[in-house]
Amino acid sequence: MKTKIIFLGPPGSGKGTQAQMVSKDLGLNHISPGEIFRRIIKENNPAEIAEKIKFYVQSGLLVPDEIVFEAIKLVLDKKNFLLDGFPRNLNQAKLLEEFLDGELLDVVIYFNISDEEIIKRLSSRRSCPKCGRIYNILTLRPKKENLCDDCEVELIIREDDKIETIKKRIEVYKKETASLIDYYKKILIDVDATESIESLTNKIKSIILS
Ligand code: AP5
Ligand code: MG
Repeated sequence: MKTKIIFLGPPGSGKGTQAQMVSKDLGLNHISPGEIFRRIIKENNPAEIAEKIKFYVQSGLLVPDEIVFEAIKLVLDKKNFLLDGFPRNLNQAKLLEEFLDGELLDVVIYFNISDEEIIKRLSSRRSCPKCGRIYNILTLRPKKENLCDDCEVELIIREDDKIETIKKRIEVYKKETASLIDYYKKILIDVDATESIESLTNKIKSIILS
């Protein structure tokens, strides 16, 4: 089984949704800097960096590499990880390589999707403020109206899911992250991110298990 995995793709392509499902089923350590940052902002802890992170996340910009990497290092197990949203530029890819110290990545799964679909999905996304579970009012509804299936807490719209911020995130992705598709081409597997959630989960699990 592959245990050193990166999910690469634009905002709203379904990385988080698939990472939550696949990591639970296959016992992989899911690491999402976006989720870590949302927790830091919500708890205002550590306070020294919370304000700074909030500025970048809410503007749709990348948080500076040093801050991201400090956060990742604390939770990264060199032999078992599913990285969702890291690396996002060449420098982060190099920092990861240095940290792995000779351990090679097994696979990079690239979530391929159009801008139109991204905007549709992110405008209808909801998430649980307590556990981070992801829903969608069009495609992945909770069992009870606007309540998390696990926590029964009221679902929220992410601060960065405003249309202007979504567009900014897409622009930043194209400018800073998309070049990683070429960087990882030898170990990259492209999946059609517009397939149904269930069919994609099965496809990704079979890639990881092969
Ligand atoms: P992050 O939280 O990683 O946001 P993102 O990359 O913009 O990606 P999203 O979480 O918006 O989308 P996703 O691909 O996870 O899609 P999801 O599964 O939710 O990062 C947030 C911010 O943190 C960044 O903007 C940046 O500021 C900072 N940051 C994070 N990492 C950083 C880094 N490495 N360096 C610097 N800064 C960093 O799905 C979207 C919706 O679609 C959901 O509603 C879902 O239910 C639905 N959906 C999913 N799959 C399907 C499907 N197959 N069919 C139909 N609907 C689907
Ligand atoms: Mg996500």
